[in-house]
Amino acid sequence: MRTAAGAGPEPPVVSLEGIGKAYRMGQVIVQALVSVDLRVRAGEMVAIMGPSGSGKSTLMNLLGCLDRPSAGEYRLAGRPVSRLGDDQLADMRNRTIGFVFQNYNLLPRLSALQNVELPLIYRGERASRRREAALEALGAVGLADRVHHLPAQLSGGQQQRCAVARALAGRPKLLLADEPTGNLDSVSGREVMGIIQGLNARGMTVIMVTHDEAIANHCKRIVRVLDGRILSDEPVADPVQVASQVAELA
Ligand SMILES: Nc1ncnc2c1ncn2[C@@H]1O[C@H](COP(=O)(O)OP(=O)(O)OP(=O)(O)O)[C@@H](O)[C@H]1O
Ligand SMILES: [Mg+2]
Repeated sequence: MRTAAGAGPEPPVVSLEGIGKAYRMGQVIVQALVSVDLRVRAGEMVAIMGPSGSGKSTLMNLLGCLDRPSAGEYRLAGRPVSRLGDDQLADMRNRTIGFVFQNYNLLPRLSALQNVELPLIYRGERASRRREAALEALGAVGLADRVHHLPAQLSGGQQQRCAVARALAGRPKLLLADEPTGNLDSVSGREVMGIIQGLNARGMTVIMVTHDEAIANHCKRIVRVLDGRILSDEPVADPVQVASQVAELA
């Protein structure tokens, strides 16, 4: 892929080289990641799999700039993350990355609409623009008729769709999802996967953690992690497609 200016190939969205992450627990050091190399290009949809404790969430936290590696270099959209200060890092995170978590992480006292608007407030978007983008994102995930509901008034699948709307309202380059279907029944899980596939088809790069092979097979590539190392990294021959009604975002 070439940039419009013809300035050479676009850098990978994610590039990890020799990434290590050690946690210190008193006298004990837990080596959660060891020499991880990973590149993810624009438009990919990658599943990260591995047993409990293998380092998946640690990896996602680093990718999401929620934590810093102890070793190695992380470039996000071509920029070396390790050289950014805390404010620059937060800004990069807000502008580049959308997050979806297993337990939705919606604020219980805010409506669906207010939850989706929140990251746009942090970005300093004007109120009218914020509202417009949030309504559009909620419409895209099929929640146009639920915008004033509180999270507790939504089903689990609807809450996760709201969380996806919150992630996509800011038009991130990269969607990071840690077990996005982990709390959902299989029908709601497929629905959420259909929405994520729809976003990916429109150009969003996706990296998601899942324990579920059936969910992973909706992705285009599966990276398997064991004991903090990448065990295998292979394309999915024929990803399962879910027909979805994700509306086109303007
Ligand atoms: N904040 C922390 N402090 C100390 N050790 C940690 C911390 N977070 C994770 N670890 C350790 O790092 C290793 C990897 O943990 P991680 O949460 O990345 O696993 P995971 O693959 O996401 O597991 P699961 O599938 O259970 O979510 C584990 O041994 C864990 O105990
Ligand atoms: Mg985890």
